[in-house]
This record gives sequence, C-alpha cells and structure tokens, in this order.
Amino acid sequence: MAPTRRELLEAGWKVGGGLLVVAAGWTTWEALRPLGPGEGGGLFVLADPDSYPEASATWVREGRFFVTRAQGELFALSQRCPHLGCTVPFCDASGAFECPCHGTIFNVAGEWVRGPSPRGMDRHPLRIEDGRVVVNTAVVEQGPPLGTREHDTPIRDARCNGEAGD
Ligand code: FES
Repeated sequence: MAPTRRELLEAGWKVGGGLLVVAAGWTTWEALRPLGPGEGGGLFVLADPDSYPEASATWVREGRFFVTRAQGELFALSQRCPHLGCTVPFCDASGAFECPCHGTIFNVAGEWVRGPSPRGMDRHPLRIEDGRVVVNTAVVEQGPPLGTREHDTPIRDARCNGEAGD
C-alpha cells in the first residue's frame, strides 16, 4: 500500500530534522575542535589598521586567529588555547576570551587572567604594510607568561560561559 500524505510529511520532517542535527553538530565541531600546531599557516593581508577598534576582537576564520586591539596596540592571537588546544571564542559581553573547555579567561591582548592555561594566548607576527594589516600564521610565538598584565583592559562581569565574574 502506498504511503499516505501524512506519512510522507512525517518522514520528510524526520529526514529534515536529522540533517539539521548533523549540520549543527558539524558546525560546532569545526568551530571548537582542537587544532594541530601547524594548521592554518600562511600570510593574511587584511583591512587597514583603523578597522580594528579599541578593545575589539575580529575573528579571521580562514586563518584561525583574531586581530585585537588593546590600548592602541594590535595583536594577532591564535584561536588555539595553550592549555589543551580548544578554540577560544571572544565574548563581547565580558570583553575577554573565554575558553569553553576548562574556563581559562584571557584579556583582549591575550594575556592570561585566570584558569588552567600555562600562559597567555599564542601570537602571530603582525605588521602594517601599504596601509594594511598583514599577519603571518606560519609563525607562532608563545603567549606571555602567567602574571603578565601589560594591557590592563577592562573585563566585565557578564560571561558568555555562564560563570560569574571575578
Ligand atoms: S583547553 Fe582552554 S582551558 Fe583547557
């Protein structure tokens, strides 16, 4: 017996829902998966320096890094957490990087604030060339040691990871 219209619709919803779950899972995995040390290496020619406002973090997805500005200075910060390699997103509400895996917090300059990371966020060389920001992700410089707070940028109480502020 041929399936009824209702059965066809139900089957369609199940297939569509299943595809949505797979797509959401893949997107989440791609955004949060740990990166290998050399992944995403290359030269990135970006926007002019004025495009990066104070205390902002701009994600460069293709290079897996952020361009940030802290107290006037520009940084290229690897999105790979120095602890165990999780992708560290920037939280606009707190003005800080918050690792979703074990809760390390870094300020907008990538300096360690608290949590299990052994150092601040690793950096890539950044230079200004012909009025553009140029970042070389083939080179990874270890982040600043624990306790380094050369850029005392404000971190607000609101957290993206659900924890209470300091
Ligand atoms: S991987 Fe970031 S705190 Fe553990």
